[in-house]
Amino acid sequence: MFSSLPPTGVPFSWKYIFSPKTHNKMSLGDCLRSLVGGEPFITCSGKAALYLILISAFLKEPLRNEVIIPDYTCWSVPSAVVKAGLKVRPVDIDMDNFGLLPELVESAINKNTLAVVMTHLFGIPGQIDIIEEICRRHNIFLIDDAAQSLGASLNSRPLGSFGDAGIFSFGRGKNITTQNGGAALIRNDSLIEIAKGIYQNDFPMAANFNPIGDIMLAAYKILFSRYLYWIPNNLPFLKLGVTEYNPNFCIEKMPPRNRIRGAMMFEWLDKITHDRNEIASAYRELFEKNRFKGISIIQDGSSPAYLRFPICLGNKNNRRYILKKGRDFGISSMYPNTVSSIDCLKPYLVSEFPQCLTAKRVSETLITLPTHYCITNIDMENIVNIISSGKINLC
Ligand SMILES: Cc1ncc(COP(=O)(O)O)c(C=O)c1O
Repeated sequence: MFSSLPPTGVPFSWKYIFSPKTHNKMSLGDCLRSLVGGEPFITCSGKAALYLILISAFLKEPLRNEVIIPDYTCWSVPSAVVKAGLKVRPVDIDMDNFGLLPELVESAINKNTLAVVMTHLFGIPGQIDIIEEICRRHNIFLIDDAAQSLGASLNSRPLGSFGDAGIFSFGRGKNITTQNGGAALIRNDSLIEIAKGIYQNDFPMAANFNPIGDIMLAAYKILFSRYLYWIPNNLPFLKLGVTEYNPNFCIEKMPPRNRIRGAMMFEWLDKITHDRNEIASAYRELFEKNRFKGISIIQDGSSPAYLRFPICLGNKNNRRYILKKGRDFGISSMYPNTVSSIDCLKPYLVSEFPQCLTAKRVSETLITLPTHYCITNIDMENIVNIISSGKINLC
């Protein structure tokens, strides 16, 4: 109990908390613009950024009100769709990368389709290049949701740079963090004009000096250690790792102090991504040594930024056992169920859509392994042993 690894996290210094400063004086918006292009809108969360793009798209095309999203993804995505007054059309995912399957996207498109939101879970690029071509052909907005994949790329194009707009999240446990925060990078000129008005008028500026936020960051820094993480991990009101569907989230601009923190952390992004990918490669080697089959293959042209290392197990009972045994090693599940099975979302789903069997299977069998800077070789061996002791077949 007194040694407990967090499932995810990112390193930061005391200076980052109490006197954030960048070396190159670039703003967070400039850093993101230079990476993925477009006009930056820096927000208090990733879902606020997604909402901004969706509401702008709906104002541009008010006769189209459906948004295609993966049936297995972060529940913030349907929350943003519903907040924008739109309907959710869930589509099944690709077992190899957990993103939308292009052929299913194409068959789900109809005269009401406003936009497609493509997510890349765990920093693994999906087939967004093909989806971009489909959306262009059907004249539909494409949002490249890189909330979990800042630093990853496909065919040398950074995730977040595909389609009409990209979003990022800087929440706790993301690729880089400002504790809470997000960004929309909009490349479609007509959406930029609409979004500027909404951002100006409807997104108030969050308080710049937030002593409670600073204390939380300091607490996060101190408690993010294998010897102390059991404390927050056993406080249910902190809701660590809990995913909620809640369309009543706040929309604000990110305050200047947090923007500086974001820009400061952006300078460390390459190193953070490199270190995470090294850990993912080490897991791969260990699993191969143990003759496990079925660890997902990295597709040609795909350059991930492993926020976590995902594995789908052979069956749900093994998963329950491994999650219980591996909790103190940072082994965790992700979302409790598919998007289409969220009860409160039912009134906002389109009336008919095909069953999403892969999404269901992933929701029942997926576990994720930590890839952050605290993980040692011994941790990785222990983690792989826990999974082996479940006598599982990886699918
Ligand atoms: C794929 C995806 N999209 C959007 C979001 C929303 O980001 P935020 O938590 O900053 O609102 C998340 C958050 O985890 C996410 O994983």
